[in-house]
Amino acid sequence: MGVAGLGAMGAGIAQLALEAGFDVVGREVTSELGEAARGRIGHFLGRKVEKGQLSAEDRDAALGRLELTTDLAHLARSDVVIEAIVEELDAKLECFAELERIVRPDAVLATNTSALSVTEIAAATSTPERVVGMHFFNPAPLMPLVEIVRAELSSEEAVETAYRLGERMGKTPVRCHDTPGFVVNRILIPLLNDCVRALDEARVTPEEMDTALRHGAGWPMGPCTLVDLVGIDVHVHASEALYEKLREPRMAPPPRLVAMRNAGLLGRKSGRGFYSYD
Ligand code: 3HC
Repeated sequence: MGVAGLGAMGAGIAQLALEAGFDVVGREVTSELGEAARGRIGHFLGRKVEKGQLSAEDRDAALGRLELTTDLAHLARSDVVIEAIVEELDAKLECFAELERIVRPDAVLATNTSALSVTEIAAATSTPERVVGMHFFNPAPLMPLVEIVRAELSSEEAVETAYRLGERMGKTPVRCHDTPGFVVNRILIPLLNDCVRALDEARVTPEEMDTALRHGAGWPMGPCTLVDLVGIDVHVHASEALYEKLREPRMAPPPRLVAMRNAGLLGRKSGRGFYSYD
């Protein structure tokens, strides 16, 4: 398997593939970023060993199956490539056009995009039938769902390959069509936006909002903690993409989140968002 982009999502996806027994070639733009992803995967697999969920041999074998590269051409032997690079349409179009030249003609090309159109991404290739969405949730190793997104021209075979792959990676796949936000983000993004707007309306703190949703609605983590985990920039971008397509006011990112993004308060990854992190 090839994984293009080893940020939080790509590293999580690579970890799942390694644990499922695949040989993985992971590509990042610099070797430092690649090594950071290897360190992150090693850390989480190490925790599993400490907790008795994985043997040290299996951890070593999994890490041994990971090859890092900065050159997309090294993904040439992949049967499947999952793309998890930056959420920018132009970057993804360029990546898919390049992947098409590199991998064999029947390899499946999947995008982990959150809110962009899989059909538009597939249009960068001359073989859109092999392009699908495989949308994992953050943190990928822990969240059971993967949405298997059928784009306008995806073949039945590519969709089924992605579905079975999701199962092999230990996930619960759900097939859906390529509509803005697919299933979960179509609902979760405006819901999180409402939570942020209600902070000011109800005059509650992020802590109080999180307590309210955890104890009043059974959420495993409160909305402010969740937006910090997803990344304020990622959430704002996904909101903008959905708003552009659906024109529903609730989809538009709340000004408070846009201001946080502009100030560099990106959540956990930047050390500060609604909360501060060490
Ligand atoms: N990768 C791998 N392993 C991880 C990890 C990660 N990123 N984060 C934590 N772990 C491991 C850790 O080793 C941890 O054990 P340790 O603390 O002993 O080391 C173990 O998982 C369990 O972690 P937690 O104790 O934090 O687990 P919880 O039981 O508290 O559950 C949770 C954590 C599953 C994240 C839960 O809080 C949850 O379900 N939260 C909601 C998350 C959610 O809604 N995600 C969707 C976001 S939307 C999205 O992704 C869409 C996108 O397109 C924007």
